[in-house]
Amino acid sequence: AEQGRLKGKRLLVTAGGTVERIDPVRYLTNDSSGKMGYAIAEAAVRMGAEVTLVSGKASVPVPSGVKLVRVESAADMLEAVLSRLDEQDIVIKAAAVADYRPAEQHEHKIKKSEEALTLTLVKNPDILQQIGERKTHQFVVGFAAETRNIEEFAMDKLRRKRCDLLVANNVAEEGAGFGTDTNVVSVYDAKGLVKALPILDKREVASRLLGLVADRLKKGEAAR
Ligand code: PMT
Repeated sequence: AEQGRLKGKRLLVTAGGTVERIDPVRYLTNDSSGKMGYAIAEAAVRMGAEVTLVSGKASVPVPSGVKLVRVESAADMLEAVLSRLDEQDIVIKAAAVADYRPAEQHEHKIKKSEEALTLTLVKNPDILQQIGERKTHQFVVGFAAETRNIEEFAMDKLRRKRCDLLVANNVAEEGAGFGTDTNVVSVYDAKGLVKALPILDKREVASRLLGLVADRLKKGEAAR
């Protein structure tokens, strides 16, 4: 039944974790496996969309039928997404983007010394926020990884980043969030809770989420 529901739609999804370099052999990253975003890409292909997958570090196979854009850092991901924003109908931000990066990327491997080493971190651009500021007609779905006050923080992110839908996962919960095959999510829109899903395989979460997106596009909500 879901087949063809996104036919003719161009969808960009980000997935995986960004990698923030310290030196040529060292970096900061997070536990994202890419499973959630890749499952969305796969489900979107099945539903007939033209899919661009912008991926940071991930440990799962690339679904067939997607246009893959590999990136390393949050800065790379920002560039990859903004340069393709105009041609998209739907943008889904499942990637775990590092909020900070090392102030300096050393050209050569840092040498060990007797001194303590201090890493200074500077703030990364917020990609979702920039999409929110620049979007014209795109339907934008954000994610929120939280461990407490889920609804309050989710609604705050949805409003600040001007998302049409926001998918909140409680990453402290068993079977939810980073690395797992399953997720437990609640989906919000500007009016509040749309749907709280039980624990499901990430592929099932993906197809239900895209079902909600397809419903809303049909109602013409993106044409504001
Ligand atoms: O990859 P998996 O192992 O399957 O794990 C899935 C997941 C837990 C990574 C995924 O479900 C998820 O929650 N992704 C978002 C993680 C995250 O960065 O959440 P956040 O609450 O810090 O950020 C909120 C939103 O802003 C996200 O859509 C994020 O992509 C975006 N963001 C954040 C920071 C930043 N500098 N730029 C951004 O665009």
